[in-house]
Amino acid sequence: MEPFKKFFLAVRFIGLRQVLRTVAYTGTLARLETRFPTASQTPAAKIFKPEALISAAPAPRGAAFKFKHGIELQVEFLGNTAVRLTWKPGELPVPYAVVEDGWEDVPMEVDEGEDGWRVSSEGVTLLVGGNGRLRYFKGEELFREEAPPSYQAPIWRQSAALDEHAHLYGLGERSRFNLRGGRYRLWNTDPDGSYGHGEDPLYMSIPAYTCLQPGGGYLIFYENSFDGEIGFEDQAEAVFLGGALRYVVFAEGPPEALHDYTRLTGRAPLPPRWVLGFHQSRWSYETEAEVREVAEGFKRHDLPLAAIHLDIDYMRGYRVFSVDKTRFPDLKGLTTDLEAGGIKTVTILDPGVKWDPGYDVFREGRDQGVFCQLPDGKTLRGLVWPGWAVYPDFTHPAARRWWGGYYRRLVSEGVAGFWHDMNEPAAFTAGGADTVPRATVHEMDGRKGIHEEGHNLYGLLMNRAGFEALRELQPEKRPWLLTRSGWAGVQRYAWKWSGDVESSWEALRMTVGTLLSTGVSGIPYSGSDIGGFSGSPSEELFVRWFQMAAFTPFFRNHAAKGTARSEPWVFGEPALSICREFLRLRRRLLPYLYTLGWEASQTGAPLMRPVWWRQPEERVLWDIEDAFLLGDALLVAPVVERGATERRVRLPTGRWYSFWDDEVVEGGRESAADTPLERIPVFVRAGSVIPMAPDIHGEGPKLHIYPPAGEGSGSSAMYCDAGEGYGDMRVDRFEVGWEGGELVVKRESEGEYGGTDDYGVVVHGVVAGKGVVDGKGIETRGGEMRTGPFTELRIATDD
Ligand code: GLC
Repeated sequence: MEPFKKFFLAVRFIGLRQVLRTVAYTGTLARLETRFPTASQTPAAKIFKPEALISAAPAPRGAAFKFKHGIELQVEFLGNTAVRLTWKPGELPVPYAVVEDGWEDVPMEVDEGEDGWRVSSEGVTLLVGGNGRLRYFKGEELFREEAPPSYQAPIWRQSAALDEHAHLYGLGERSRFNLRGGRYRLWNTDPDGSYGHGEDPLYMSIPAYTCLQPGGGYLIFYENSFDGEIGFEDQAEAVFLGGALRYVVFAEGPPEALHDYTRLTGRAPLPPRWVLGFHQSRWSYETEAEVREVAEGFKRHDLPLAAIHLDIDYMRGYRVFSVDKTRFPDLKGLTTDLEAGGIKTVTILDPGVKWDPGYDVFREGRDQGVFCQLPDGKTLRGLVWPGWAVYPDFTHPAARRWWGGYYRRLVSEGVAGFWHDMNEPAAFTAGGADTVPRATVHEMDGRKGIHEEGHNLYGLLMNRAGFEALRELQPEKRPWLLTRSGWAGVQRYAWKWSGDVESSWEALRMTVGTLLSTGVSGIPYSGSDIGGFSGSPSEELFVRWFQMAAFTPFFRNHAAKGTARSEPWVFGEPALSICREFLRLRRRLLPYLYTLGWEASQTGAPLMRPVWWRQPEERVLWDIEDAFLLGDALLVAPVVERGATERRVRLPTGRWYSFWDDEVVEGGRESAADTPLERIPVFVRAGSVIPMAPDIHGEGPKLHIYPPAGEGSGSSAMYCDAGEGYGDMRVDRFEVGWEGGELVVKRESEGEYGGTDDYGVVVHGVVAGKGVVDGKGIETRGGEMRTGPFTELRIATDD
């Protein structure tokens, strides 16, 4: 952002007095960086490469190699197609990202050949050259080739060849989807209240990327949280400013590779079901009365609402875990009344603790020694919303426990979920690196380290502290956290929203890519501020953003201080009616979304997926950044251009149906779709069964059946449970196919949860005649029928 604009935005957000303080903090930060230089700022003069192999020996799950200059390489097969490599020197990571290390035993071979040592599983062969060059094969096919890495203590650099057609995706949250052609910093960063296309880095970097290339792709994860950079110009280059160079290569296509990556780093637990509904937020609803008014507005306008978020102004002087009693005199009464109307309350929490000896959280933290310190033992002081603040060291188990102890205060006020912000961690500067000094000391669970390594872990571990506290505090409930920052593994604890995105058409388009990046980096739940955060959207931009967001995992309206109000009714008609339609549609889609959530908890697959997800061999799909799949059944093509009355959509090969009118569309080519303001193009993959809630009233879910083409078939599932807690569940799996002109749906069920056994069945795309449920005829009316828990449903059709 231009300095001028940045200045005004800063004054609007934090006030002139704080802006002046940022000048002071910027100076302090610069002084501290000079006073406490880190090793990476003065690296060794010499650069070493492995150069020549000295010894090689089999080791558990792999082999160990020693090269010249004290360089070592350890190769371990975690699974048949997952191989972990560790180059030393450098300290091993504290395994914050990793949950499952010891996988099943893999049959292995290690032998020496003419061209080097071969370490192979049944799935992958790694060829280790005498100079440290590595080549990875699947069968005969070379799928990755790394030049010998270089070590300039403490910095590791590595490069790998890139096929000219290779496309790269992931690296956490990025402001584009296909990353080819750029360099990306691995350093979680608050872009100062507003960002758009091309801004890098953003709040959450994850050193994991998926490579799609002719002949099959792979996913690679660097388990190294140091400041660094990954670039994809002529080659794939990775730089880490410290630590051992450790990475895992998952040699599979995207769904399988992400499955294994999330086996290593963990999967998102099933959220409480209410979170999948619509959330309304604003910086800030400043009083209890204002919150009640907003809730009332939703009711009056017949708009389903799941949650209201309270931004920083509910606190007393931005003191975390406090409540301003003048503006929220009875928070408990408020949350109870909202809850009675089906609305949950979510409150924001920022890690910066106000420096105020009169404030218990500050005092207790200081007494327990849980705040980050500088190398000289002084407590670190940064500048955030409350003014001068201290930062809990979440890499300290005692700090995590201490912090976690305070959630009780808000839980007892009826708060149902927590929104973790500013956890990059952010600090306000006037043009500096908006965070704390690189040399800040971290406990690293006893191993000790500095901020250059701890920085990217900060958000991850703040979420861990919150999640573990809530599990303990309310063992019968599922915790729900929303976060701005994180690192590999954060999916185990929190959902992710894309922060302070600008209010522009370009940013709306970019957001599709940003959320897809987040998803392929292992975080299945993400969303953006509807209409953009930092500006006041036009009615049209708001409506188009809202329509897209109705299909993103996290569906929330939020905007910055100083922007125009943006509750759906503010825009009048037609926006209000359109938002109502999409809110209702969202509610109808809940059984499908919930099923996708369950799937994510089992496989790691994000809810929102790239269009190439199931068909990565279709190269024309690799460049699509303005459409996405929701699960495998729905393809959503949001409108991201002002005034557009139609847009181009390329569907993957196969048959699709228009979601709105069941028109059959054959994929494998691009076509035009109409985009009147009330609609965005949405398509359903043939062969899908989509469980949907009834329109408004009615009992059980409806199974919407979209027949496969010709000889095709399809499988789908429906997951149900109580929507909260850890009780019984049930999964119904459906197979749909054709048998002698009849549409046949087979169902298998697993699990004890009763719920409802009364399904509505709606057949799309064909004229449904008589139905037969396990041999007994049932009535069909207008393509709809009601059945009990069938095993086989046969439907006569006119086709
Ligand atoms: C940050 C957050 C934003 C929030 C604001 C005030 O900018 O990203 O969502 O509204 O802080 O808490």
